[in-house]
Amino acid sequence: MATASLTGLPLELLVHLIAVYLPTEDLGALRLTDKYLEKALFDTFAREFFTKRQFMLSTSSLQTLVDISRHGALNKTLKHVIIGMESFQSFQDADPGFWNLSDAQRRVFFAGFADQFSLMSSGHDRTLLVEAFRNLPNLDTIGIRDYSANGRVRDGGRWSSYGAPTISRQLGYDLQIYSNEFASCVFQLVMQALADANRVIPSIETILRGQLAGLTDLAFYLRSPDRKIDAVLSGLEQLLLTLHFTNSLRGTLNVDLLFLGSFLLRTPSLKHLRLNFQKPHTSTTYTVLQHLVTTPNLLPSLQRLDLGMMSTSPDTLLQIMSKFSVTLQHVSLWKTELRYDNSVLWNDSEDRYNPWPRVLRVISTTSHLSRMTLGCLGQLSEHEEPIHVKFKDGKISHEYSGDVKDWMPQLINQLVVSWPQRPAEDSNYTSDGESADGEDGFIDDDEPMDEDASEDDAD
Ligand SMILES: *[C@@H]1O[C@H](CO)[C@@H](O)[C@H](O)[C@H]1NC(C)=O
Ligand SMILES: *[C@@H]1O[C@H](CO)[C@@H](O)[C@H](O)[C@H]1NC(C)=O
Ligand SMILES: *[C@@H]1O[C@H](CO)[C@@H](O)[C@H](O)[C@H]1NC(C)=O
Ligand SMILES: *[C@@H]1O[C@H](CO)[C@@H](O)[C@H](O)[C@H]1NC(C)=O
Repeated sequence: MATASLTGLPLELLVHLIAVYLPTEDLGALRLTDKYLEKALFDTFAREFFTKRQFMLSTSSLQTLVDISRHGALNKTLKHVIIGMESFQSFQDADPGFWNLSDAQRRVFFAGFADQFSLMSSGHDRTLLVEAFRNLPNLDTIGIRDYSANGRVRDGGRWSSYGAPTISRQLGYDLQIYSNEFASCVFQLVMQALADANRVIPSIETILRGQLAGLTDLAFYLRSPDRKIDAVLSGLEQLLLTLHFTNSLRGTLNVDLLFLGSFLLRTPSLKHLRLNFQKPHTSTTYTVLQHLVTTPNLLPSLQRLDLGMMSTSPDTLLQIMSKFSVTLQHVSLWKTELRYDNSVLWNDSEDRYNPWPRVLRVISTTSHLSRMTLGCLGQLSEHEEPIHVKFKDGKISHEYSGDVKDWMPQLINQLVVSWPQRPAEDSNYTSDGESADGEDGFIDDDEPMDEDASEDDAD
């Protein structure tokens, strides 16, 4: 019988087989003795597994990033580095499995805890990131995430941080990955490491999906003036942010003292800004939006603005659109709710508060938009009841493109307001009895604004 050989198989099949059966951690140990195979597989492997990688804040995970960055071929392939939020810090109140650990598992936990504590407090995390950022010539995006994206066959179908599945397996549960201070520290870490490495990259994406997860304003405090930081900031073209600004940390947020505001003043090349807020925090959202409206010379190159998870007034929304109308081409509004405003302007012919048609009409006459994406819109009644605004065809979101004069009438025509059947006393109304729950269910995995589902779909 002939020796079984992999060499005859089509390359795609080989990659698929190895991809399915080989856990990520074993990739490093992969030794291909067949020279032909090694050579043939390498490019395909590098493209599939080393274009976009997620790491966590542990010495071994970041050291792996450095190792990749020192690899003569892989360092050219890696373009997108993501830092995951796996944290050992909040075990006492947060990690549900912690109190059930065996002694051996406790040792694993505390070793990891100590490693992460030492890594972060000594600045070794920054040293490792600086080296990696220096060595990766094609790095164009840094992500910060508190989740593992769907879409890969390996690692249980999730796009996990390197090293995290091993820890989960040893502990029997996934590390808690949510802490806004932690996320804000990581944002600072990334900015400072880019500055130290003299690396200017076009895109930083902070996508946090945990409940009430988001960067605090402290994430955006950077020394000023600082030549290296300013080089990084002025090269930035895309900035995606999930924000969680509360007043508690340093008194009432003041429009003039907003660190995010000073940060954005230093990003003149920014073309795409995404601000996802927290709906309950209306006053801090108002502060941030007012800052955007009132600060002169802010974001002179802004072409695309995504606003999400927010509650604001029709006037403020129109002021934002007007402020950037000269450059703005694409607007996304996602889970955006218009608060009640008792001006006759916003009422419809039946004298109901119905602001969206007019807001959209004003946008179409005052801007040069060529694209608009909308989903999960809403408004608040004068009694503060949330009222959904849906699309006639039942879709959750819609994207329109082309000449705004052509599509805006279609868009306005698509909107249906789910007026409460019986006003005020009916607390659990649904618009049409079937779809309301699903649409408002905040199912983040199909969040259209993240736009990473297709990239993650590596298979
Ligand atoms: C990529 O790695 C090789 C091998 O270590 C190294 O010689 C090269 O300088 C690295 N590339 C960059 C841009 O650092
Ligand atoms: C911990 O163990 C107890 C007893 O086995 C079990 O009832 C409980 O559900 C476990 N808790 C968690 C969070 O796993
Ligand atoms: C607009 O409509 C609301 C709700 O129906 C109503 O209470 C309010 O008086 C109207 N506002 C004006 C200025 O007519
Ligand atoms: C709201 O829903 C609950 C449970 O489905 C039901 O018992 C209650 O009668 C409903 N209330 C109204 C005002 O429809």
